[in-house]
Amino acid sequence: MTRLRRRTLASLALLIALAVTPHALGDTGLAPVDPVSPNVREARNLYWVLLGVSAFILIVVFVPLATFIVRYRHRGERDVQGPQLHGNTRLELAWTAVPVAILVGLAALTFYIAPRVDSVAAAGEEVLEVRVEGRQFYWQYEYGNQVIAIDRLRVPVNRAVRLHITAPDHDVIHSFWVPPVGQKLDAFPGRVNTTEFRAEKVGVYDGACTEFCGLQHAAMLATVEVMPEEEFDVWLRAQAEAQAARRSDLGEQIWAGVCAKCHGPDVAGEVGPSLQGNVILADAGAVEQIVRHGQGAMPAVGRGWSDRQMDALTQYLRATQAGGADGG
Ligand code: CUA
Repeated sequence: MTRLRRRTLASLALLIALAVTPHALGDTGLAPVDPVSPNVREARNLYWVLLGVSAFILIVVFVPLATFIVRYRHRGERDVQGPQLHGNTRLELAWTAVPVAILVGLAALTFYIAPRVDSVAAAGEEVLEVRVEGRQFYWQYEYGNQVIAIDRLRVPVNRAVRLHITAPDHDVIHSFWVPPVGQKLDAFPGRVNTTEFRAEKVGVYDGACTEFCGLQHAAMLATVEVMPEEEFDVWLRAQAEAQAARRSDLGEQIWAGVCAKCHGPDVAGEVGPSLQGNVILADAGAVEQIVRHGQGAMPAVGRGWSDRQMDALTQYLRATQAGGADGG
């Protein structure tokens, strides 16, 4: 049956070719996204080592297995017995010792790299500390100088950033993950998880909440914008001043990141009702009451906000949503 054998071998070759084809290894295939932080690069290298060793073992085991199944398959009656073997000490020792050595090697490498994926800062190095809060359904960042940002985290290039990831006590579990710059880390209510990264390339990197957290989990996207150092410092200083003076774009960020997630991009209604023409929007007191405490199906998205943050939203609403009926 040389035809069958040829066909089997051809199928096998095809499978192997598929497994190692550049497409399968490209960005849409088995490869993690391109890392821009050294710790993510280490994690990715570990991934490639584990995948490579596993693929090698898969081929070493399955190619002979498939060959033997085909070549020595049952072909009708047999009248000759093969030789009877009783043990082969060297072979048995080898097939025990080699897998043990491989597993110990992989485990050692994993335990060596694992603790390093959450830290990049050298001792005494200047680190940008940011508190990251996962909330239904937005990410809130707080910098050391009290600057608050929603969903979009701005950081300077080539500086160590330490994220303190958490969620408010009344919220649920989220998970922060922007693959090119850092490890995935859960945001637990009442618990702080810490991780670091150092983005080495200016750019905008997308991520998402990766823990199912409710109706609008899919809308809970996160973005990391890596800026040139000087530009970042200027931005952070300007934001600090603008937010202190209550004339920043924070209200707009909150509107887009917190309100519009549920009420729709033009607030014409989505999982939340339409807010178009709603007179409450211009009533700062009513907005604050609903946002801080929730109402019906509306969660308390603003529980724990500072007055400054609340003002940013109500000011923005008065300016944009009052529809000329200001004074309410
Ligand atoms: Cu937050 Cu899913």
